[in-house]
Amino acid sequence: MHLSRRGLLLGTAGVAAGALTACGAGEDAKPLTGYTGIAMPTTTSDRWVLEGADLEKRLQDLGYKTILEYGDDDIPAQIQQIQSMIDKGVEFLIVGAIGNTSLGEVLSKAKDKGVTIIAYDRLILDTPDVDYYASFDNHQVGVLQAEHIITKLGLTHESTETFNIELFSGSLDDNNSQYFFQGALDTFEPYIYGGQILIPSNQTEQEQTATQQWDRTIARTRMAELLDAHYKDERLHAVLSPYDGISRGIVEALVAADIEPGSDDFPVITGQDAELRSLKAIKEGTGQSETVFKDTRQLAEVAVNMVKSIVEGSTPEVNDQGTYDNGFKFIPSYLLEPVDVTAENYKEIVVDSEYTTEEDIDSAPADEG
Ligand code: BGC
Repeated sequence: MHLSRRGLLLGTAGVAAGALTACGAGEDAKPLTGYTGIAMPTTTSDRWVLEGADLEKRLQDLGYKTILEYGDDDIPAQIQQIQSMIDKGVEFLIVGAIGNTSLGEVLSKAKDKGVTIIAYDRLILDTPDVDYYASFDNHQVGVLQAEHIITKLGLTHESTETFNIELFSGSLDDNNSQYFFQGALDTFEPYIYGGQILIPSNQTEQEQTATQQWDRTIARTRMAELLDAHYKDERLHAVLSPYDGISRGIVEALVAADIEPGSDDFPVITGQDAELRSLKAIKEGTGQSETVFKDTRQLAEVAVNMVKSIVEGSTPEVNDQGTYDNGFKFIPSYLLEPVDVTAENYKEIVVDSEYTTEEDIDSAPADEG
């Protein structure tokens, strides 16, 4: 996979023009009201819960009507929810997909009714009907995670020491997973070829490292198996984890194997999403030492601005048209920048920006619910 960012590009007139009325071809045009269906994937992680509410509020503040549904990681349930939004007459769909190739049929029904479709954070594949994509630079997420490991281990190209690393990746049916994983692999590559990074399990393919539905307990089981099979006499120096829930599953397996957070034997672990429990571990040094923060307030704003532009008869702003090919076309995208968060900068990045508070971090629940 080759991923490259093309500079700032504006304009997707064709797509937007097709979406300027809520009616299908041949019907009388009626003015858009911005009636929007928001289909979110899951309530098991903080970010999606915050974003559903944030998207609703932003749209309602503009006077638009909304329907918000969560698919609970269940693909047929999400299809059903989207169908019911179409039946209720939404003019826009903002979709955080559960299965990246499962929505073609329902989206084609939406398109027949003139609905504008925004893929929210996760690209929807194998359909001509996605109009816009709002997300982050997903390759960069993996780069930041790998760079954290490299920095924490003090690795340089001249290092003569070797370090044992294991790799975890996200759900195979989430298009983002490959970008996160590839970003990390690209960054590790010179050290792997240089012999400084070893992967004792030899599990380096995305399929081997995947964590279905980003499930913490699946990650915990795989980590326990890896420890059992490869680390009876070896030290594990770092674990690439793509998401905070997975990171906490990895920590649980390490603790169960008597590898204590804070001890010299505890590996460097990465993460993503700045979830409260993970921020607490980063702050207190009791688990992962990094998370990648994606400011989801900005993402919600981008998606809502896309709706607003179309309602007002203009073309949504995009900043990338050459990275995300969904199998039919490159989707006009607006990509935001992810940020690396550690114990050193969490205050500045997530507290000072009012994403969360010290109190909320400190009182994050210990149990996983
Ligand atoms: C998102 C990540 C999130 C993961 C699990 C991905 O699609 O980009 O931010 O950690 O899903 O919810």
